[in-house]
Amino acid sequence: MKALQWQGVNKLAVGEVPDPELRNPGDMIVKVGKTVTCGSDLHLLGGYIPFMEKGDVLGHEFLGEVVEVGPDVHKHRVGDRVVVSSFIACGSCWYCDQKLFSLCDNGNTNPAITETLWGHAPGGCFGYSHAMGGNAGSHAEYVRVPFADVGAFAVPDEVSDERALFASDSASTGWMGADLGGVKPGDVVAVWGAGAVGQMAARAAVLLGADRVIVIDRLDNRLQQVEKFIGAETLNYERTDVSGELRERSGGRGPDVCIEAVGMEAHSPGPQFAFDQLKQQLRLQTDRPTAVRDAIHACRKGGSVFVLGVYAGFVDKFPLGALMNKGLTVRGAQMHGQRYIPMLLERMAAGELTTEHLATHVMPLDQAPEGYRIFKEKEDGCVRAVFTP
Ligand SMILES: NC(=O)c1ccc[n+]([C@@H]2O[C@H](COP(=O)([O-])OP(=O)(O)OC[C@H]3O[C@@H](n4cnc5c(N)ncnc54)[C@H](O)[C@@H]3O)[C@@H](O)[C@H]2O)c1
Ligand SMILES: [Zn+2]
Ligand SMILES: [Zn+2]
Repeated sequence: MKALQWQGVNKLAVGEVPDPELRNPGDMIVKVGKTVTCGSDLHLLGGYIPFMEKGDVLGHEFLGEVVEVGPDVHKHRVGDRVVVSSFIACGSCWYCDQKLFSLCDNGNTNPAITETLWGHAPGGCFGYSHAMGGNAGSHAEYVRVPFADVGAFAVPDEVSDERALFASDSASTGWMGADLGGVKPGDVVAVWGAGAVGQMAARAAVLLGADRVIVIDRLDNRLQQVEKFIGAETLNYERTDVSGELRERSGGRGPDVCIEAVGMEAHSPGPQFAFDQLKQQLRLQTDRPTAVRDAIHACRKGGSVFVLGVYAGFVDKFPLGALMNKGLTVRGAQMHGQRYIPMLLERMAAGELTTEHLATHVMPLDQAPEGYRIFKEKEDGCVRAVFTP
């Protein structure tokens, strides 16, 4: 079958790979209908996430048709239209019982790397390096879905492919940021990053009853989408004193909840950017934590900061003093898709949560390398490139 393969840093190619096969009784095979790029893939492309191997198939967000099921798959039948969580979880370990699915003890079949790096191994992920299990990704004609009864969900007829696709990752991630960040009715919520993840976090905050939701970025086309489709306010950090303006919009206190949806390749104005980038490229720090620093600085005393952006290792100039003295709660996580997807599909069916505007560029899988280039360069207003294998 055809698949998009990682061939090295900033090198992608569509090639032929073997068709996936069932390996365990709970597996199923999905014929991929739509699969979409994610900011997380850019970290793989740029070589910031280690343990990629030449030829690895990328992609972790997808929707498609079930074509084969193992004997232990009971929820799905051949022909069903399903959307699949990007993180892989067993559904029966202690973490899965706590609904912390991306922390599953059995989702990652290659736990040694992350145990060494972080002390414990999180669950596995499709198309996301050998540190996350080395599972073949979804930018392909077919994909093997382990623990299919746990990670795949039937899409209701009234929800289109274009909408349901985003339940796979960005909508679940965004919802988790608002939910576990503790957004309550009446809160002021600030979100850094107006990519699909930031937009979905902002929409979740709106739906959870936040009084004001403010999204921060520098790309005007994305901020315009936020105003038009998400129902939130915006700030362009290149033209505004963000911290001052956030205080102004929150009765002088600062936001109650700050959600960071930018990640390890953050941009920042001024000399700090060159400093962080150089240190990252020399591997003196692995990540550029600009937006996390900003969120901690802006957050009100006693408030909560949720890190959705992906980070891999160590950072420099982390404002531990502000965190401690301001009494902040700082949390982060990879997405617990299995916890949110059924509710998100219901909200999608009810028209509360729309995502079609995120799919700015739709193309066949053959054009995926070009799709990634446009997405990475944020060219032509690209928010997400969707491939149709
Ligand atoms: N936790 C999870 O499970 C999970 C899931 C999906 C994605 N992610 C991560 O979330 C992050 C965002 O993903 P995305 O797909 O929306 O990415 P994206 O690349 O499409 O968007 C990132 C946005 O951040 C903006 N940005 C850069 N520097 C900024 C700064 N200093 N302040 C404010 N905005 C800034 C960019 O202009 C861009 O619009 C990535 O790090 C991705 O890896 C995490
Ligand atoms: Zn993703
Ligand atoms: Zn588990």
